[in-house]
Amino acid sequence: MATQIPVFKSNQSLIRGKEFLMDPLKFTVEQSNKLGGFFRVPFYFRKMFILTDLEAIRHVLNTNQKNYKKSPAYDQLKQALGNGLVTSERDFWRHQRRLIQPIFYKKQMEGLFKTMGEVAKNYLENLALQIQSKEDIDLTKEMMNITADIVLKTLFSSKNPASQKEMYETMEVAQNYIMNRVTSPHLIPLNYVNGHHRRFKKTMKTFDANILNLIEERRNDPNPPADLLTMLLMARDEETGEGMNDQQLRDEAITLYSAGHETSANALAWTLYAIANRPDIIEKIREEVDANLGDDLPTFENIRNLRYTQQVIEEGMRLYPPAYGIGRENIEADEIIGYKIPRKSIIYISIYAVHRNAKFWKNPEEFNPSRFDPEQVKVRPRLAYMPFGAGSRMCIGNHFAMMEMQLILAMWIKKFRFGLDENHPIEPNPLITLKPKYGIKMKLWNA
Ligand code: HEM
Repeated sequence: MATQIPVFKSNQSLIRGKEFLMDPLKFTVEQSNKLGGFFRVPFYFRKMFILTDLEAIRHVLNTNQKNYKKSPAYDQLKQALGNGLVTSERDFWRHQRRLIQPIFYKKQMEGLFKTMGEVAKNYLENLALQIQSKEDIDLTKEMMNITADIVLKTLFSSKNPASQKEMYETMEVAQNYIMNRVTSPHLIPLNYVNGHHRRFKKTMKTFDANILNLIEERRNDPNPPADLLTMLLMARDEETGEGMNDQQLRDEAITLYSAGHETSANALAWTLYAIANRPDIIEKIREEVDANLGDDLPTFENIRNLRYTQQVIEEGMRLYPPAYGIGRENIEADEIIGYKIPRKSIIYISIYAVHRNAKFWKNPEEFNPSRFDPEQVKVRPRLAYMPFGAGSRMCIGNHFAMMEMQLILAMWIKKFRFGLDENHPIEPNPLITLKPKYGIKMKLWNA
C-alpha cells in the first residue's frame, strides 16, 4: 500500500522551489529533520523528491538504477562536456565506462603518482618563496591552481603554462555560464539575446580546436608520454578491439579535467580550514608525516601509510562534501520505500544532509577524524558516507582523488604552519561543487 508523501509547503515564496534553489544545504538538512528522509518539493512545473533516507537512496542508485537517468541539469553540462562519462547514459555510457575503468585501477594510478608529486612539490616551493612578500593567501585559489596543474599534467603532460592558463579560464567561463542556466532556467532565453550564449560558444570553439590538435599530435607521436590522454587513446574495447574517435576522446578528456580538480581543490580547502584552529589534529598529522616522509618526493607506499591523514580528509569531505547532491530522473513510474512517484520526476539525493544526519553521526557539526577509525566505519551503514556517490555511476576518480589529496595535505603540513584570517567571512556556496563563497584567507609561515 502506497503511503502519503510528505510535502514541503512554502508560505514565503510564489516561485516553486525557490527555498531549495536559494540554499540547498540548509534547506535539505532542515526539511529532512522536519519531514523525514523522503519528501516532495514543488519545483517549477516538475515534481521533485528529496531523499536522505538510505534505503530510498539505495533503491535509486543501486537496486533499481536501470529506471534512473541523470537529472535535466546534466543536459546543460553537455553543452561543455559533450557526451563524456559524467553526462552520457545507458549503452553508450556503459561501453565508455568499461573502456575507461581500467585506467583508474589503483595500479595504473601508481604510474601517475610521480607526476603528481613533482607538480605538488614545484607548486609548494614557489608558494613558499612568495609568502615572504605576501600577507594573506586565498587558500581556495591556491588549491584550485595546484589541482588544476596536477590534472593538466597527468592528463596532457602539458608543458606550456600559457595553454594551461587558457584551459583553466575557458572552463571558468563555461562553468559560470552553465551554472546560470541550471539555477535560473527562466533566464535561458535572455542568454540568446544578451550575447552570453554566443560568447560561450565562441570560447568553446577555440578550446575544442586546441584539444583536437593535441589529440592529433598525440596520435602521431612515436613516443607518447605515459599520461591519461595516451591511456585514453590506447583504450580498446575487449570484444571489438576498437578505440575512441576524436570526438569521444575530446569529450572524455574535458570531462576528466572538469570532474577531476575542482572537487579535490574544495575538499582540501575545506579540510585545511576545518583543522586550522585544531593544533591537536595538525600535530597528529605532522607526527605521521614525519614518520613516513623523508626529504625526497613521497612514494606511493609512503602516502598509503598515512592512515590518520586520510581520516582527516574523509572527515573534511563528510562536513563539506564537494559533490553535495546527486540528481536523477526516473524513466518509468516507481515506488520508493512505499511512496509512489510518477514518471519523469526529479530526484535529489542530498549527500550534505546525509553526512550531517544525527542518526549516523554523533554531534554531526563537530570535526572529528576518529569517526573514520576502522572499528567505527565497520558499524556504520555504508551509505551514511558517500562523497563519491554510489552504485554503478560512482566516481571513477576516487583513488586518484584520495591519493592526490593525501599527498598535498601531507606536503602542506610538512612545509607550512598556517592560521586563518579570523576577520574573513566563511560561507559555503553550493555551485557545481561546494565552494567557500568568499574564499578562505590564511597566513602562511614556513615550518
Ligand atoms: C574529492 C574529489 C572528488 C569527489 C568528491 C567526486 C565526486 C563524484 C561523485 C559524487 C560522482 C557521482 C555523480 C553522480 O552519481 O551523479 C562522481 C562521478 C565522476 N567523477 Fe568524481 N569526484 C572527485 C574526483 C574526481 C577525479 C579526480 C576524477 C577524474 C580524474 C573524477 C571523475 C569523475 C567521473 C568521470 C565521474 C562520472 C562517472 C560515471 O558516471 O561513470 N572525479 N564524482
